[in-house]
Amino acid sequence: MKITIAENLGFCFGVQNAFNESTKALQKDVCYINGDLVHNENVVNYLEKLGLKKYETNIPRNKKVIIRSHGVCKEIKEKLIANQNEIIDLTCPCLKAIYKNIIKWYNNNYKIVIVGNKSHPEVKAMNSLIDYKAIVVSTTKEANEIFGYNNLYVISQTTNILEKFIDISDIINSNNKNVIIENTICAATRKRQDSAYELAKRTNAMIVIGSKTSANSNKLFEICKKVNNNTFFINSAKELDLSKILKYNNIGITAGASTPSWIIEEVASLMENLSKDEFMEQVEDSITRV
Ligand code: F3S
Repeated sequence: MKITIAENLGFCFGVQNAFNESTKALQKDVCYINGDLVHNENVVNYLEKLGLKKYETNIPRNKKVIIRSHGVCKEIKEKLIANQNEIIDLTCPCLKAIYKNIIKWYNNNYKIVIVGNKSHPEVKAMNSLIDYKAIVVSTTKEANEIFGYNNLYVISQTTNILEKFIDISDIINSNNKNVIIENTICAATRKRQDSAYELAKRTNAMIVIGSKTSANSNKLFEICKKVNNNTFFINSAKELDLSKILKYNNIGITAGASTPSWIIEEVASLMENLSKDEFMEQVEDSITRV
């Protein structure tokens, strides 16, 4: 049996940084967070054990508060400051660069269009910067409803599938005037999607490791499933059904940007006795690559 690990997989740069900084902060004190640090139950449980507490509507006062890698809505940040919290802002630098451009083009009288999921915290945070005046689209049908505008600035949720962004932005471009299209899909996302796609094409089964709540892991699954019908989506080694997977002799492994290295290693170890010695070296090498 041949097992191949995707060239790029696991924690992206932004998530790795958020995880490292949160762990450091939690070693000193209890911290508060609005939602999950990343969409992965294994990481969430680990951080909760270290003392990370969630808040929802009641914004904390005089506490240490973490802002997640996919950012937070402007009004929540303002309330956190007003309540004299110590803010540990772990918004990914890639998103901070996108925020600057949203504000710049909005101030230049461009209508902002975000290609993404309306209810995703990253998209909400982007839209909050301009008082929710952006148009958010996620389908070609919705894109066709954007018609007759002059001056549009079109960007993407960072975890989008490139083909989808191209299809939607092409429609918007042909129905409106002065359209600036900026592909803001994160390089880390693209690399994970490209390597998953390449691997899924040349193997006869694929294992995608990630949480069902993770947008980027779901997209990796979607990409692999399109070209490889024998694609299995698991959250951890416990969910790996060896009776199904062992039917195949050429298996690929990939993992979402929110999947921690220890879970990837756990899955890889489980299959280690079925593969060559160099396999674990391959795993370690790939999960340290951004
Ligand atoms: Fe940042 Fe890209 Fe990860 S935007 S959080 S490096 S997927």
